[in-house]
Amino acid sequence: MSTTEHSATRVVRVEGAQAYDVVIGRRLLGDLPALLGEGVQRVLVICTEAMTTSADAVREDLVAQGYQAILAEVPDAENAKSAQVASFCWQILGQADFTRSDAIVSVGGGATTDLAGFVASTWLRGIKVVHIPTTLLAMVDAAVGGKTAINTVEGKNLVGTFHPPAGVLCDLASLESLPKWDFVAGLAEVIKCGFIADPRILELVEADPTGLVERGGSSGEDTAGEDVLTELIERSIRVKARVVGEDLTDRGQREILNYGHTLAHAIEQVERYDWRHGAAVSVGMVFVAELARLAGKLDESVVDRHRAILQSVGLPVTYRGDRWEQLLAVMRRDKKSRGDLLRFVVLDDVARPTRLEGPDPTLLAAAYAEISADAPTGRGPIAL
Ligand code: GLY
Repeated sequence: MSTTEHSATRVVRVEGAQAYDVVIGRRLLGDLPALLGEGVQRVLVICTEAMTTSADAVREDLVAQGYQAILAEVPDAENAKSAQVASFCWQILGQADFTRSDAIVSVGGGATTDLAGFVASTWLRGIKVVHIPTTLLAMVDAAVGGKTAINTVEGKNLVGTFHPPAGVLCDLASLESLPKWDFVAGLAEVIKCGFIADPRILELVEADPTGLVERGGSSGEDTAGEDVLTELIERSIRVKARVVGEDLTDRGQREILNYGHTLAHAIEQVERYDWRHGAAVSVGMVFVAELARLAGKLDESVVDRHRAILQSVGLPVTYRGDRWEQLLAVMRRDKKSRGDLLRFVVLDDVARPTRLEGPDPTLLAAAYAEISADAPTGRGPIAL
């Protein structure tokens, strides 16, 4: 993984058998042909209805540059990630004679990049995909690293592949129209990268959390604010790039990216996906910080730092106290896919992730007690 800077554009290279660039900046469409590479004639641009205007601009740009480009509109959010929607996309690819040298471009949030990646990885056993993520969460997480997925009635992301993109374009202009709480939810993954690997991220957020959150909904004219946001995005992508560059297929090191996610996935399931992923990850990180403290691994000051930084940007740090048994049951079902013991990524210190395997049930319950709230939910203003 390496980083270069030219004018306001930053480029993070994700190494590996199929290395690729993640470009961060503004007005990046000119970079798309280089990411698509040689030999591509046809491009399917996949987007949701909300992204049609942006995606059509991408399509028109591609047509102007000599590609045959068509648009496929898919349902919003998790509704996009179904076998039926994948089949709809395969049908379009088939009817338009897409060959192995053609490509897909996704324009949207994490659900769109997951679906588009899955369709690209399965069409003719794999064609190129370039992601143009339009949410903070998709920029720093979903679009980078090559995980693709669709859901089944039994659960989320149960069918998927590892299919690294040919490139990723993170256009900061997309964040200007992102609703405030979607931006804040994305900050949970940014802060996660700070705790697991890059303390400078934490310092940058702590320096002016209000300015950061307000800038997320501003016009982007605040140059200093934009510099901080760009640095946060770049640093988070560098963390992810380094991890997935070493462990694309999730055999070891990649697990650290799931810091806070074991409880988070259980909360999401219990809440029937009414909670934003970032909000659940925020609660999940405080839970594992408490767990590490109770296990004698983590200093109380670092646990306090979790609460302070997450709350400072408006993320929740508590969850309802009457759901522990339900959450535990979901977490235990989850662990069956990996082995016999519940396993958590925890910290010894900031930027020192380790694992806690098979913690005592009383320890788990004690950690949950530390994050429990009397209120029906601890979600606060990050409600849908
Ligand atoms: N979102 C976690 C990962 O990409 O592994």
